[in-house]
Order: sequence, then C-alpha cells, then structure tokens
Amino acid sequence: MFIEISNLCKSYKTECIETIALKDANISLNKGEIGVILGPSGSGKSTLMNILGGLDSADSGKVIVDNIDITKLSDDELVEYRREKTDFIFQSYNLMPHLTVLENIEIIQNISKSPLDINEVLEAVGLADKKNRFPRELSGGQQQCVAVARAVIKIQRYYFVMN
Ligand SMILES: Nc1ncnc2c1ncn2[C@@H]1O[C@H](COP(=O)(O)OP(=O)(O)O)[C@@H](O)[C@H]1O
Ligand SMILES: [Mg+2]
Repeated sequence: MFIEISNLCKSYKTECIETIALKDANISLNKGEIGVILGPSGSGKSTLMNILGGLDSADSGKVIVDNIDITKLSDDELVEYRREKTDFIFQSYNLMPHLTVLENIEIIQNISKSPLDINEVLEAVGLADKKNRFPRELSGGQQQCVAVARAVIKIQRYYFVMN
C-alpha cells in the first residue's frame, strides 16, 4: 500500500466542548489509485485531508505514506514531506494576494525538484493570457484554476505520464 491510514482519531477541544472529527478512520490506497472521500459537511473530510497533507496533527493512529509514518515526523521533516510528496488544492484557494498568477505558481515551481514547464501548465488550465493578473482580478473559478496549476506544477513528468 502506498497510503495506509489506520485507526486515525482527531478531536477539537475548545473551552467547554470537544468535537470528535475522526474516530478510527481507516483508508488504504495503492500507488496510482485515485480515491474519493465523500461525506456530509462536518463528517471529517477536511480534517482527514489536513492530516494526510501534513498540515495538522492527529491525536492517535497511523498515517503511512510511502513507508513513512508521517505522524512521527518532526516539524522540519514535515516541511520536506509537504514539499516532496503532497500537492494540496485548498477549498479557499489560499493564493498570495500580492503576487501575480505567474508568481503564485513560480513560487512552488522554484522549490520543486523536477517541475513541469510553467507555460504548459498555464495553457492547460486556460490561464495563459491571465498570467500577469493578480488573484483579485480573477473570477472564483479562475482563482481555483491557479490553485490547481500551483498544485500540479511540481508533478514530475514521468509520474504525470505513468499515472
Ligand atoms: N478548528 C476547529 N475547531 C473546532 N472544531 C472543528 C475545527 N475544524 C473542524 N471542526 C469540527 O470537526 C468536525 C469535522 O469537520 P471537517 O473535517 O471540517 O468536516 P468536513 O470537511 O467533512 O465538512 C465538524 O464537526 C467541525 O465542526
Ligand atoms: Mg471540508
């Protein structure tokens, strides 16, 4: 298995209430397999993705990705994990407001080992003619396309082609 999540638990504690977001969640995925997580609002999908993406920590359970249990990684190791193993398209885009479309994508391209060509990616998401615009000058859908471009730019070509 490439991804193996077992008995994952996470709750959020505020002053007087505790919300159980994940209770013994289990997921297995082979390399190249595409998984879809479906569920009503509040059922824990974002919590699960945030933990799998190395953005949040679990209370207990294992999250094995490519033979490494990411729940055991240090902060520095998690930075490397996020950079090298994950791409994340945020629900609220999280684009840098003071950077142009091109710069928002370049910032990730620059830290990737073997990124795709930026113009090809811009072309693929239909934003080649908008590359010098700022996020606020784009529609919501176009901003989402920038977020997609920013996520896929770091995919190595051989991986892109094989899968
Ligand atoms: N930061 C937080 N603080 C407190 N409760 C939270 C927080 N984030 C999520 N929750 C709660 O955890 C549960 C799961 O939320 P979430 O993972 O965002 O669900 P989904 O993405 O499936 O809509 C919900 O009941 C939600 O209210
Ligand atoms: Mg959500």
